[in-house]
Amino acid sequence: MPDPTGRPTVWMETFGCQMNVLDSELVLGHLLKEGYAPASDRAEADIILFNTCSVRDHAEQRLNSRVGALQALKRRRPGLVIGILGCQAQREGEALLRRLPHVDLVVGTRQYPRLPALVTEARAGKRAQVAIETEGSLLAPNHTPHGRARPFQAFVKVTEGCDCGCTFCVVPGTRGREESRPPEAIAEEARRLVGEGVVEITLLGQNITSYGRDLRPRIPLAEVLRRVHDVPGLLRLRFVTGHPAFVTTDLLKAVRDLPRVCPYLHLPAQSGSDRILKAMRRGYTADRYRAICAEARDLIPGVEIASDFIAGFPGETEEDHAATAQLMRDIRFGMAYVFKYSTRPGTAAAGLPDDVPENEKKRRHAELLAIQEEIQLSGNRALTGTEVEILVEGRAARPLKEAGREMPDGVPTWTGRTRTGRIAVYRAGRDLTGRVVRVRVTEATALTLIGELV
Ligand code: SAH
Ligand code: F3S
Repeated sequence: MPDPTGRPTVWMETFGCQMNVLDSELVLGHLLKEGYAPASDRAEADIILFNTCSVRDHAEQRLNSRVGALQALKRRRPGLVIGILGCQAQREGEALLRRLPHVDLVVGTRQYPRLPALVTEARAGKRAQVAIETEGSLLAPNHTPHGRARPFQAFVKVTEGCDCGCTFCVVPGTRGREESRPPEAIAEEARRLVGEGVVEITLLGQNITSYGRDLRPRIPLAEVLRRVHDVPGLLRLRFVTGHPAFVTTDLLKAVRDLPRVCPYLHLPAQSGSDRILKAMRRGYTADRYRAICAEARDLIPGVEIASDFIAGFPGETEEDHAATAQLMRDIRFGMAYVFKYSTRPGTAAAGLPDDVPENEKKRRHAELLAIQEEIQLSGNRALTGTEVEILVEGRAARPLKEAGREMPDGVPTWTGRTRTGRIAVYRAGRDLTGRVVRVRVTEATALTLIGELV
């Protein structure tokens, strides 16, 4: 249903990584510029778009059932336009239309600038279209607060695509060749966002530490950090996700020397076994990884290192798994995301037998998670009695309780994050959303610091 001013309305659902969250915002911003309006209810929307993820099979299966469930709605409202964007669109193309015949548009990761025209054609009754050419320009940064969870936090893309050939990963296939944006364009976008009230920017790239290798002259990520850091009014600057092999001393020194850059490095290790790291083609050994973390900790006071791990890669033995557990215990990550290995079509590892049985993958996955939980709990507990600085993100999803009962005074609970990404909650009458405040930590769980406003 069009909005009260007659503009057709768009509903957007996003799966997967932060890059997709950003792409969805930019696609929505692009459509709003072309005369569309955000829908407030999916059932009423004129256009429903899904931005999809292919990184593990589970994400693709969820998408299939979400879109499958729209068949009845489409029958009732044939004018409804359903579009599938993102990695699964890129990976499957035509095949998606055969499986989900009520879909009107399949638009790959490099074809978003064409989306408004494709939507117009679909609304005019043109039959289903697939746009997945890999030669394409990046979408102009049409940010819109409608597409962001919080108006004061924004993502900015610094690279698209990835040239690494990690054997398990579908991303190079779905996101294409690595392309770095010039630093001026990034800084200009940051200035505009800060001018609109953004105080925290997270720079995004599939492999952000390799930024600038395709530019002539080459420009390192440290230079981008310096330029964005200097935008007046910005309070915090983050960047994700790095590949450990591309971390330079120059980058670590920039993180140390730029006070608004958060001392947080997301450097996925994936495994602690040299044999598996080699089979994954990660380009480092476990000891090299340890050395990178040691240098980071040596140079950057209070730095927190986060990682991703894959449990049950083809050929992973109990010994390999133990090496991963050991790496986790040695480094003591601030945060670790652990995934069960999922075979992705078209990747090099898809040619290897997926030979770790599912129950074994589950067990290893749970074991790594348990190790991490213990590390986080003791890390958070060590902060009790200290003061932390957090950016308040808004009301907490769940109010703080005392002895299992909600407190009767009606004072709301607020949530925020420290510079190293830890979640902290506190109760207060005043709404300080979007501000940086200090909280004295009184209690801790593995995921949350609980405290009082100072
Ligand atoms: N550099 C990217 C990585 C994308 S994938 C980024 O921006 O985050 C995110 C994580 O998913 C990877 O670090 C890896 O741990 C996990 N992953 C990727 N492919 C996988 C697969 N086939 N099976 C299980 N986990 C996978
Ligand atoms: Fe994937 Fe490795 Fe690139 S994990 S995104 S191929 S750095």
